[in-house]
Amino acid sequence: MASSAARLTFLALFLLAFPCAMAKKTYIVQMNEQSIPATFNTNRDWYSASLQSLASDDTNLLYVYSDAFHGYAASLEPHQAEALQSSDAVLGVYEDVMYHVHTTRTPRWLKVEDEFGLWPGTGSHSKEAHQPFPDVIIGLLDTGIWPESKSFDDTGYPEVPARWKGKCVSGPDFDPSLCNKKLIGASYFDKGYIQSLDGNMTEVQTPRDHEGHGTHTSTTAAGSPVANASLLGSARGVARGMAPHARVASYKVCWKLGCTSSDILAGMDQAVRDGVDVISMSLGGGDGYYYNTSIAIGAFSAMEKGILLSASAGNEGPLPGTLSNGAPWIMTVGAATLDRNFPAHALLGNKMQFTGAAMCGGSGMGNKLVSLVYNKGNVNASLCTAGSLDRKAVHGKVVLCNRGEISRVEKGAEVLAAGGVGMILVNTPENGGEELLPDCHMIPTVHLGTKAGNVIREYAKTDRNPTALVIPSSEGDNVRPAPVVTNFSSRGPYYQSAQILKPDVIAPGFNILASWTDYVSPTELDIDKRKVQFNIISGTSMACPHVSGVVALFKAAHPKWSISAIKSALMTTAYVHDNTRKPISDEANGGPASPFALGAGHIQPRKALSPGLIYDLTADDYIAFVCSLNYTLKQVQSVVRRTNVTCSTKLSDPGQLNYPSFSVVLGPNKKVVRYTREVTNVGDAKSVYRLAVEAPSTVAVRVRPSKLVFEKVGEKQRYSVLFVAKNKTDEAHGGSITWMNHQHRVRSPVGFSWDES
Ligand SMILES: *[C@@H]1O[C@H](CO)[C@@H](O)[C@H](O)[C@H]1NC(C)=O
Ligand SMILES: *[C@@H]1O[C@H](CO)[C@@H](O)[C@H](O)[C@H]1NC(C)=O
Ligand SMILES: *[C@@H]1O[C@H](CO)[C@@H](O)[C@H](O)[C@H]1NC(C)=O
Ligand SMILES: *[C@@H]1O[C@H](CO)[C@@H](O)[C@H](O)[C@H]1NC(C)=O
Ligand SMILES: *[C@@H]1O[C@H](CO)[C@@H](O)[C@H](O)[C@H]1NC(C)=O
Ligand SMILES: *[C@@H]1O[C@H](CO)[C@@H](O)[C@H](O)[C@H]1NC(C)=O
Ligand SMILES: *[C@@H]1O[C@H](CO)[C@@H](O)[C@H](O)[C@H]1NC(C)=O
Ligand SMILES: *[C@@H]1O[C@H](CO)[C@@H](O)[C@H](O)[C@H]1NC(C)=O
Repeated sequence: MASSAARLTFLALFLLAFPCAMAKKTYIVQMNEQSIPATFNTNRDWYSASLQSLASDDTNLLYVYSDAFHGYAASLEPHQAEALQSSDAVLGVYEDVMYHVHTTRTPRWLKVEDEFGLWPGTGSHSKEAHQPFPDVIIGLLDTGIWPESKSFDDTGYPEVPARWKGKCVSGPDFDPSLCNKKLIGASYFDKGYIQSLDGNMTEVQTPRDHEGHGTHTSTTAAGSPVANASLLGSARGVARGMAPHARVASYKVCWKLGCTSSDILAGMDQAVRDGVDVISMSLGGGDGYYYNTSIAIGAFSAMEKGILLSASAGNEGPLPGTLSNGAPWIMTVGAATLDRNFPAHALLGNKMQFTGAAMCGGSGMGNKLVSLVYNKGNVNASLCTAGSLDRKAVHGKVVLCNRGEISRVEKGAEVLAAGGVGMILVNTPENGGEELLPDCHMIPTVHLGTKAGNVIREYAKTDRNPTALVIPSSEGDNVRPAPVVTNFSSRGPYYQSAQILKPDVIAPGFNILASWTDYVSPTELDIDKRKVQFNIISGTSMACPHVSGVVALFKAAHPKWSISAIKSALMTTAYVHDNTRKPISDEANGGPASPFALGAGHIQPRKALSPGLIYDLTADDYIAFVCSLNYTLKQVQSVVRRTNVTCSTKLSDPGQLNYPSFSVVLGPNKKVVRYTREVTNVGDAKSVYRLAVEAPSTVAVRVRPSKLVFEKVGEKQRYSVLFVAKNKTDEAHGGSITWMNHQHRVRSPVGFSWDES
């Protein structure tokens, strides 16, 4: 590669003509590993040399990537990055991007332990519960870990497998001896983050979790059972992860202000090198195109090594096209509700009663009604903003607070500070409507909707001596309907490849109880000094590790299955009806959820253990998919990391990928779409499947053949589907293609979108 070396020298001379230093940024540089000149012994030497030729030195080299990615991250001036781009040895140069964890910042939810028992391996009667899974390792890229959590109890665990190459690193508040046979890895990556702060790092450089999020996701995926777990006395019971015997490796890549792609990539690179089996990533928001999204590229490498990346879809719903982490080789997870809620009640002096939501009410405010205060004349006091309440007026009373302006939990803190004994928090039409959020308030509280709020506001204004009592209660069961797709869960289509249906599945992401850090109180307010071992939070961040844990169970149950087989099994067996037997609905509008919200449906792991048929995919299939995206060859090479790729085989359309679901883009100029699929028999040798098709009135769907006959296990059969637009389609109305026999239902959802161009 003499030519590129010469070019770099030339560039170095050129750069000397620009002595003025510009602001440096972090860039991720993807290298063609085959271009390494023979004179260099290691990639690092090569990368250092190329930096030096840019009049930049080694100290600017932040990371060298070798396993999930080939290349490095460096702090460079923009023109240096541009110069690199033109080198033949460079496949791509990407600016570092800030990602964020996918927790909704608003609510603190409550949940009961036995919801975890929905999954195989976690119920007390389940066989898997008694079988350790010593060889399944889940790597979590998150905010770190709280190692003292009881969820990392390793009693009875065998030695860490010899194949494990990871380690626990030390930090000012983290001793590596805190790791054990359950928590087998803890490291941190902050070089990109520090650059993003211009070097002003004020956080402790440690694997320890100072946010809570990473501890929560890790223990949701793989927490050991903890008896008598609760959040301040509520939801008492056994808390456990999905794969309670899987081992946990924590890669701290997220800090107070977010997670940079260079740090995330460093975490992925390390996780792949260490030998994790599953990567769980509850963060997102920095996606570009596949060829310049380092997470998509890293996930591609992981996929080739048999490591499934499970990622959160994002909390940007309910608008269409808001989803992140949507590459087909990633398992993209949306969030659903559980069938539990956390009611609380208000009783007024006029005998009216209202039921709303709240948690952490403890034993309440006693059983006597006390005066109800509503500061109708003073906007700030009616909102209970900080310092707005008059201590004399409020002391010993229940305060009616309108929602808005400041966080809901801050209002509780203000009422408490002013000496109040209870709070009735009510929505307004502008703030919340009828939405109820059971936060962990510092004072007995009930949160009510606008309608109830209007009645109580009127009572407080007109009654001469208004009184009220706030009554907390234990969590409610059997909420109907459930599950429901949460309003916040991000929706497809995914803009980079609308022909692949995303999200893939939904999983519990609402009211999730899991372990927590000592650093953060349940309200996240500084004045809240409560420490909790468990906390309840919501987001697709919470849904993702449910799936990661389940994938770990599958790795143990079916060690020979490919990751696309596992993904196919989880998707085609997902359920799409709620506990009222109606199609799973969407919180955003109350109607049936579209495939772009629901994906294949809610995971049903026990069913997935025996899927009957699977849609298998190899790395070559994904390469043919990337080749169909109209990228330049260099861009394709960036994604698939093979410099010999020629795209001589490519799919006629990205939707031709043998994916377990369909996303059909029709339009005035594209009224007909035809896809083929190939299914592999993993059920009984001799089996016959018949067809069931559901389609909206706007599309005709024809499947050939209408019966699939298998003689052998492992046998493959193809079918084709013709979609013909009869009228304009819309994203809300999907369909499905199901192959079934007396044992199995293998369902593929179909989403439709309409492209006017
Ligand atoms: C990816 O490429 C697109 C289009 O070329 C560009 O707008 C975006 O900024 C790039 N993202 C990164 C991280 O380089
Ligand atoms: C460094 O960051 C801290 C916390 O974010 C901030 O308070 C401080 O002003 C910053 N210092 C400089 C020199 O930017
Ligand atoms: C459960 O924990 C609470 C404290 O949170 C304690 O008071 C109670 O005794 C414990 N119950 C059992 C059965 O250990
Ligand atoms: C309400 O609070 C805002 C901001 O805290 C303040 O600017 C304003 O003066 C307050 N209004 C009243 C009537 O106290
Ligand atoms: C859903 O979220 C949107 C955007 O945040 C909001 O405007 C809407 O009121 C929410 N709908 C419900 C039912 O919560
Ligand atoms: C690729 O380009 C061709 C020709 O312009 C077009 O027909 C096709 O739809 C494009 N494919 C994608 C996935 O954008
Ligand atoms: C391309 O390179 C990969 C390894 O990167 C190798 O496995 C494959 O056989 C090569 N393909 C061809 C056609 O040379
Ligand atoms: C197509 O849709 C429009 C509007 O929804 C409707 O009025 C029309 O009858 C439909 N046409 C057919 C052929 O179904």
